Amino acid sequence: MADDFYIDINRASWDERAPAHAASPDYAFDKFVADPQFLSEVVRFDLPLLGDVGGMRGVHLQCHIGTDTISLARLGATMTGLDFSGAAIAEARRLSATCGTAVEFVEADVYDAAAVLAPGTFDLVFTGIGALCWLPDVRRWAEVVAELLRPGGRLFIREGHPVLWSIDERQTDRLVIGYPYFERAEPLVEDAPGTYVTTDVEFTHNTTHSWNHGLGEIVTAVLSAGMQMTGLIEHDSVPWEALPGQMEQIELGEWRVADRPWRLPHSYTLQAAKGR
Ligand SMILES: C[S@@+](CC[C@H](N)C(=O)[O-])C[C@H]1O[C@@H](n2cnc3c(N)ncnc32)[C@H](O)[C@@H]1O
Repeated sequence: MADDFYIDINRASWDERAPAHAASPDYAFDKFVADPQFLSEVVRFDLPLLGDVGGMRGVHLQCHIGTDTISLARLGATMTGLDFSGAAIAEARRLSATCGTAVEFVEADVYDAAAVLAPGTFDLVFTGIGALCWLPDVRRWAEVVAELLRPGGRLFIREGHPVLWSIDERQTDRLVIGYPYFERAEPLVEDAPGTYVTTDVEFTHNTTHSWNHGLGEIVTAVLSAGMQMTGLIEHDSVPWEALPGQMEQIELGEWRVADRPWRLPHSYTLQAAKGR
């Protein structure tokens, strides 16, 4: 089987979901248009750890429909967003044009990012919130990140925690580890008709291939690619209802397990810098 057998399957799912996501109140396109200061909840959550991005040249990998990318641009960064879904990039460009915040959006596979963007020039690589799970090889991803960064440039990722990804969401009465924690060559193949935002749209492309990557594997990939870790914080919340029926919504659109949330790392923020 070709290495990239999963790409067309996953892209069909994202291409179909992008317009529904753009129309969903959860992505708040109307608020971005109505208020030039409006920022996504994800970026508002990230701000205390992210700090001042003003004047930075940043790239948002797997930017989806661009709401976080536009938020970073509104904070003063010169942003490029990259995603392999043409439909997601079209929605991102439409939002950028209608809300008046300039961002360059590029359609490409994340593993090709250093080939299609200017390598060694970015002050900031920003990514996460349902990004790494679509990639079969976390080491290859970290090499791309390191290639994109200028010496001294920063990686900022907040992502679903690999322990959370390993929980079987179909078991709603307790937390059960049912999926791989470590990266495996074989994908997790799922057929899921829905999506993670509020929508009435019914989808037809529902098969996805995904992979988990253990926290140690992610850290080792970052270090092996020539970056130095500058922070690793685990959070007790995640910005989508990852375990339906077991979670409650808290502030800033975050969700956490309602029963003893301290049992579970829900997401993490990893920061690293490329050596000078
Ligand atoms: C869950 S979304 C990312 C969410 C984003 N943080 C947000 O909420 O706006 C995942 C994105 O990854 C993109 N994606 C998946 N696999 C990719 C790949 N191999 N290369 C580039 N983009 C990819 C999808 O098209 C989708 O837009």
